[in-house]
Amino acid sequence: MKKKVIVTFGTRPEAIKMIPVYQELLKYPDNFDVTLVVTGQHREMLDQVLDIYQITPDIDFNIMRPNQSLTEVTNILQLKYDELYTKERPDLVLVHGDTTTALVAAFEAFYHKIEVGHVEAGLRTYERYNPFPEELNRQLIGRFATFHFAPTLKAKENLLKERVQGKIWVTGNTGIDTLFLNLKKKYEDTFLDQIVEGKMIILTTHRRENLGESMEHIFLAIKKLSKKWPDYAIVYPVHMNPKITKMAHQFLEGLPNVHLIPPLEVVAFHHYLKKAKIILTDSGGIQEEAPSLGKPVLVLRGTTERPEGVASGTLKLVGTNQETIVGEVNRLLEEPSYYQTFTNAKNPYGDGTASVQIVKALKLMQKTQEEVNIR
Ligand code: UD1
Ligand code: UDP
Repeated sequence: MKKKVIVTFGTRPEAIKMIPVYQELLKYPDNFDVTLVVTGQHREMLDQVLDIYQITPDIDFNIMRPNQSLTEVTNILQLKYDELYTKERPDLVLVHGDTTTALVAAFEAFYHKIEVGHVEAGLRTYERYNPFPEELNRQLIGRFATFHFAPTLKAKENLLKERVQGKIWVTGNTGIDTLFLNLKKKYEDTFLDQIVEGKMIILTTHRRENLGESMEHIFLAIKKLSKKWPDYAIVYPVHMNPKITKMAHQFLEGLPNVHLIPPLEVVAFHHYLKKAKIILTDSGGIQEEAPSLGKPVLVLRGTTERPEGVASGTLKLVGTNQETIVGEVNRLLEEPSYYQTFTNAKNPYGDGTASVQIVKALKLMQKTQEEVNIR
């Protein structure tokens, strides 16, 4: 029997990592009746991803408001998902990661006794406010889900320790599927072409726990680095959170080699990463992508749920202290042997087949369930 599946997401990173799963599911119309539901928790940044892959969602809740609070997003989404599940009655809801969209989609599915599959399951710091609110979001989703798609063995171990119910598969991260696909695409960009090979530093920052003083420190570090390394382009696609946009312009506008640009669409961004010398970020997804590219990543956080990238040598946790950030970048640029230690890493996040593995697992589960039903 066909399984009715809702694939749902709402932010940029979820879209980047769920679209390959959605597209893979669509290849099996005899097995799956798929509905794509987006919440629009992000509007422009989500649409950038949908547009580049020419995907039109079946349903769009379109909930984003400027400066939305977690409570606002949660409240609106609860009612939207309640209505959706009442009407659609899917057999399975697939969510991704740790956003508020994913949490509420999973939570409401539980209230409707609908099965939940969690893609990118088992990432943990075990620090309740780092990252906030994502750490508890993903732990809770782990309780609601019964199909857990863990990117790594470490993530599976976390889930086993927590005694989650249902079944766990280790598949790699679907973000790597997207990265590999994007890098195969031809990409032309006059701005990127003008940047001298090996002379670009990329910055991204958006974490809620970094808003305020920590972000000030990050921007002051960038200011110092821009003066010390005038022949390097520091490219910063600024996250659309108005608090971040305001601070970024306040601290960094007018520096000749600092380029504050709007968020890049993902094919572009992956090509920028490929050309970067160093990446400074508090992003989760970028920590997974960089090891595949052999690029040093200084993680602007005190902790990470991606310890595999640290162990592989590509990621270094540097926190948000101004002097530490400046010192680490200086060392990478001044000591080629130190730089080299970051670049030999093997990618621990999969071989680009995570989505295929996830859909294969879902097909097998369906078969097993049908056999059980017949018996
Ligand atoms: C969200 C996720 C976070 C994820 C991040 C990826 C939660 C709680 N947080 O955080 O886990 O790492 O997305 O970027 O789910 N905005 C726009 N246009 C956009 C996107 C955002 O204007 O396309 C602005 C809006 O004013 C919005 C604000 O940014 O209110 C914050 O967006 P929100 O999704 O609430 O939080 P993020 O910090 O982006
Ligand atoms: N990304 C993008 N354009 C940008 C910056 C990032 O497409 O200008 C991609 C990046 O390659 C990664 C994802 O967005 O796949 C990460 O999103 P973000 O940092 O917003 O969220 P997180 O991963 O921290 O949840």
